Amino acid sequence: MGKILVINAHPDPDPARLCHALADAYAAGAAEGGHEVRRVTLGALDFPLLRSMGDFERGTVPEALRPASDAVIWADHIVFVFPLWLGTMPALLKAFLEQVMRPGVAFAYPEKGTGGFTRTLLKGRSARIVVTMGMPAFLYRYWYLGHGVAGVRRNILNFVGIKPVRETLLGMVTAASASKRAGWLERMRALGRAAG
Ligand SMILES: Cc1cc2nc3c(=O)[nH]c(=O)nc-3n(C[C@H](O)[C@H](O)[C@H](O)COP(=O)(O)O)c2cc1C
Repeated sequence: MGKILVINAHPDPDPARLCHALADAYAAGAAEGGHEVRRVTLGALDFPLLRSMGDFERGTVPEALRPASDAVIWADHIVFVFPLWLGTMPALLKAFLEQVMRPGVAFAYPEKGTGGFTRTLLKGRSARIVVTMGMPAFLYRYWYLGHGVAGVRRNILNFVGIKPVRETLLGMVTAASASKRAGWLERMRALGRAAG
């Protein structure tokens, strides 16, 4: 059975936000499937912005993010749920990833003078990115080439060794009917059961 971390990265704690229901449905499905589940709700955490390379390389994960960074290391499958904001992840998630995907947690620089390569420390983990958006999902994927989500996948998750990274893009969510919404929640539940 898998160890699944569900990261709800919606900045707005308003329970009406679809992302919260999606994260709940995934976590419920994962528990039904017999998987171990941990959850992180970024909107409920208060943590500082990373402001320098010096802090990134020599600092440590802020206290408020320790349980989250421990959970990233613990998990073998990580699910990120967020709304598309200005074509990409909300700033809150970027701020979280800058603090957590740092040397010592996510990768290790080569020893000075060895000429070696940066080593990934999170190899062996997989991920799923679940994104809600106002526009139709096909428009984001084919006209915008899914650039913001591709950046999360390639420049962040693949970079630290997390692979494969699968995607669920849900479009026109603000206008969605109750039955459409219910279908999305069922899809999340099924993915959770399968740890997919
Ligand atoms: C600051 C901001 C920027 C947004 N940018 C986009 C965007 O670039 N493309 C898009 O399709 N929708 C955009 N939206 C709409 C959100 O994606 C949409 O409200 C959200 O996915 C709804 O899901 P939720 O109920 O979980 O918040 C934006 C919304 C906000 C608040």
